[in-house]
Amino acid sequence: MLYTCVAACILAGCSPTGDDKNAVIEQKVESLLKRMTLEEKLGQMNQISSYGNVEDMSALIRRGEIGSILNEVDPQRINTLQRVAVEESRLGIPLLIARDVIHGFKTVFPIPLGQAATFDPQLVEDGARISAIEASSAGIRWTFSPMIDVARDPRWGRMTEGSGEDTYLTSVMGVAMIKGYQGDSLNDPTSIAACPKHFVGYGAAEGGRDYNSTYISERQLRNVYLPPFEAACKAGAATYMSSFNDNDGVPSSGNKFILRDILRGEWGFDGMVVSDWTSITEMISHGFAADAAEAARRAVDAGVDMDMVSYAYYKELPQLIKDGKVKQQTIDDAVRNILRIKFRLGLFDNPYVDENLDVLYAPAHLEAAKRAAVESAILLKNEKQTLPIPASVRTLAIIGPMADAPYEQMGTWTFDGDKNHTVTPLKAIRELAADKIQVIYEPGLSFSRDKDTKGIAKAVAAASRADMVVVFVGEEAILSGEAHCLADLNLQGAQSELIEALSKTGKPLVTVVMAGRPLTIGKEAALSSALLYSFHPGTMGGPALADLLFGKAVPSGKTPVTFPKSVGQVPIYYSHNRTGRPVTGNEILLDSIPVEAGQTSLGCTSFYLDEGWTPLYPFGYGLSYTTFEYDNIRLAADKLSVSDTLRVNFELENTGNYTATEVAQLYIQDKVGSINRPVKELKRFQRVTLKPGERRKLEFKLPVSELAFWNIDMKKTVEPGEFALWVATDSQSGEAVPFEVTE
Ligand code: BGC
Repeated sequence: MLYTCVAACILAGCSPTGDDKNAVIEQKVESLLKRMTLEEKLGQMNQISSYGNVEDMSALIRRGEIGSILNEVDPQRINTLQRVAVEESRLGIPLLIARDVIHGFKTVFPIPLGQAATFDPQLVEDGARISAIEASSAGIRWTFSPMIDVARDPRWGRMTEGSGEDTYLTSVMGVAMIKGYQGDSLNDPTSIAACPKHFVGYGAAEGGRDYNSTYISERQLRNVYLPPFEAACKAGAATYMSSFNDNDGVPSSGNKFILRDILRGEWGFDGMVVSDWTSITEMISHGFAADAAEAARRAVDAGVDMDMVSYAYYKELPQLIKDGKVKQQTIDDAVRNILRIKFRLGLFDNPYVDENLDVLYAPAHLEAAKRAAVESAILLKNEKQTLPIPASVRTLAIIGPMADAPYEQMGTWTFDGDKNHTVTPLKAIRELAADKIQVIYEPGLSFSRDKDTKGIAKAVAAASRADMVVVFVGEEAILSGEAHCLADLNLQGAQSELIEALSKTGKPLVTVVMAGRPLTIGKEAALSSALLYSFHPGTMGGPALADLLFGKAVPSGKTPVTFPKSVGQVPIYYSHNRTGRPVTGNEILLDSIPVEAGQTSLGCTSFYLDEGWTPLYPFGYGLSYTTFEYDNIRLAADKLSVSDTLRVNFELENTGNYTATEVAQLYIQDKVGSINRPVKELKRFQRVTLKPGERRKLEFKLPVSELAFWNIDMKKTVEPGEFALWVATDSQSGEAVPFEVTE
């Protein structure tokens, strides 16, 4: 009965349903709350990071001082600690064990940015399910994922953890992960609670420098940054995390507007909010609180229920309550939110983990990770069909510091991934080549930042003996992720020199980039015959890339983020607003400007004299070994009312020689609004697999209500008028098709 109840609650979204089953949990929460002392309540609001010493932690747990532990991953130790909570603490309230399971627990999937490049939400959901099965087998029932921060600045190291620059894609992928983690019911022992983060705006850190301030207007917050979090709430996300950044002067962990007014008030969220790591006491550094007491007061009043590791709640709230500065009611509500999640997870009925489960690195998990890595790779260039590697190649040179770097290819946030389980491209290529192709391996550089060019001559010699060269370059895992921001996005170390030297051999040169973000690789792309981009692809990256290189699989990934030509163009993203002086295409660039040119002779439009206005690769871009043609794009009706559904029919044909998958994309533009609207917005996409010569009739359906935006009156509204849409292979292709929305 409880099981159905929890399922019903989750299916009903984030608002309290008031149905019978939910009421059972509410009753349990209330009766437990009544029996709790203030210290026990504050204990539930206190999360610590495991510090190894079980006896010390047990003493705290026995006293009821701890509600949750993060970073404990050993099932025996978890059961030991849980036994103390359940059997030796006064009220027997179970602990909630948390971990950053970001793109896999043991079986590591591509980094979330790579998963977004698949444009395949089902695959992302399946990956999250596997992560939940593996993590829960260790006793973990809460992950701090998905990260659904829209990020438009690749200098920011944490772009790697999210789905890139687009609000819609981020929403879809976030929901997919939540479904995978939480399964059909939170109450299932293989389900783990999701934690959409970082609420909110963290991805807009000024200058792309982590923890930096953001300045997002309320309208932009609502139109760009909040929708993924609202979608997460509707998908039943159990918890949220408040972010480190201050927006317009207000740190998120003290921001009542986002945590109470929007999250709980507007969206009806009834789960739990946890602070980010010490983000409560960091409000002192922000200058938003004078001391830990003020920080605790501001955070709890703003709506942060659980304090991640700062201990400010546990230490400061007793006095604040005594002095009447924090209301008892505020504490009770926070504890309700925490207990509710513990009940929904079934922790009271089933607190212990089965220590004999053996699910880690299961063959099906590795197979899913490989599929994800295959679908996440993006073919950015393929001159004269260099790829797949032709059968005529007898000798293949494998070069580069990322060809055999099992740790690095897992990417950031892989506390639990084991490099001994990683299969590198070199290993997989050797296996596929078997005795048919001779593989010569010469790394050239020993790691991505290596500036020692001694090995380059050997790499060039190897390349000269081969029919084709594949060079694996990119970023080590440590160069992206939290606090790992870069001001320069060129390839590190002597990697560019290595590529330049290899290109001089005149051999067909395939460059494979394994990185945590889009890098400024225009020069290296120009020197290469083919370019395959693989955001750190995880445990099974090697076999996936080998299959793609040899044509056993065909690339289908699309860029989830715009690739800039140079850092100076950042932020550059497809869904920008229209300026009053858009480019005309007649702009004159630096090298063509006559000497002593007149002040206004170049035209006055919005572009850079050196880089122009286009990126290196636009959003949604990615090639295939085959070619696709879009045709007959027709609307079922081109005049619609707000209650209608837009139906766009089109035909897609595979005009090449490989069975392959295309990601068809639907963009819209709202021509005139009460505020300036973006040039384009992604609204739908679908993956379509076609055989050579196959043509298929397809359809996009979009309820007109989804054209709504937060307008000049700060109301979410569809404003009737003229619109345009594009059905295309990327954000910069296709012909505009007009339609109208009437009153
Ligand atoms: C990060 C969070 C993470 C938390 C717990 C923080 O530093 O910002 O994303 O979930 O640590 O490890």
